[in-house]
Amino acid sequence: MLPAYVPNPVAAIFGGGTPIDLGRKAGDGRRILGDGKTYRGLLAGVFSGLLVGFAEIVCSGAGLPGWLPVPTVTTILSLALGALLGDIAKSFFKRRLGKERGEKWFLADQYDLVFGSLLLLALLSPGWFIAYITLPVLVAILIITPILHRAANIIGYSLGVKDVPW
Ligand code: CTP
Ligand code: MG
Repeated sequence: MLPAYVPNPVAAIFGGGTPIDLGRKAGDGRRILGDGKTYRGLLAGVFSGLLVGFAEIVCSGAGLPGWLPVPTVTTILSLALGALLGDIAKSFFKRRLGKERGEKWFLADQYDLVFGSLLLLALLSPGWFIAYITLPVLVAILIITPILHRAANIIGYSLGVKDVPW
C-alpha cells in the first residue's frame, strides 16, 4: 500500500498552481473539483508513488514465496494513480454536496485513497489484487489507513503544508 499512501502527502507538499478543473464550475454553480486538486500535485504524487513502488519491486524480488506474483509497473501505477483519482473523485462529490475546499467529510476523506487504489488495482492488476488483498489484509488496511491519515495530516498542519489538521 505504500505507493498508495505516499502520493497524498507529496501532493500536499508539492501541489499548487493550475487546478485540474481549470477553475471551471459545474451546473450547480460550484467548482467541479476546486483549487485543492492541481496538476502539479497529481504529477508529483503519482511520480513519488512510483518511486516508492520501484524500490519495493527491487526489494521484493528475492524475498517473495514463489506462488506470490511480483509487483509490476502496472501494480504500482494502479496504486499511486488510483489513490489520487480516488481523492479527486471524492472532491468532485464533496463539491456537489456543497462542502468547501478543506471542509471535513468523515470517512470519505480517510478512505478515498483506499477505494481508488484498490479499485484501479482490481481492474488493471487483477491477479495481484486477488493474491494479496485477502480479507485479513483488507481489514488491516481499513484499520491502519485512518490512523496514518490523521497522523500525516497533523504533521502536515504543524509544518504549515496543510491548512487544516484533517
Ligand atoms: N493537492 C494538490 N493536487 C492534488 C491533491 C492535493 O495540489 N491532486 C494539494 C492541495 O494543495 C491541497 C492539499 O494538497 O490543498 C491537501 O489535499 P486535500 O486535503 O486532498 O485537499 P483539500 O484542500 O482538503 O480539498 P478537498 O476539500 O477538495 O479535499
Ligand atoms: Mg482535504
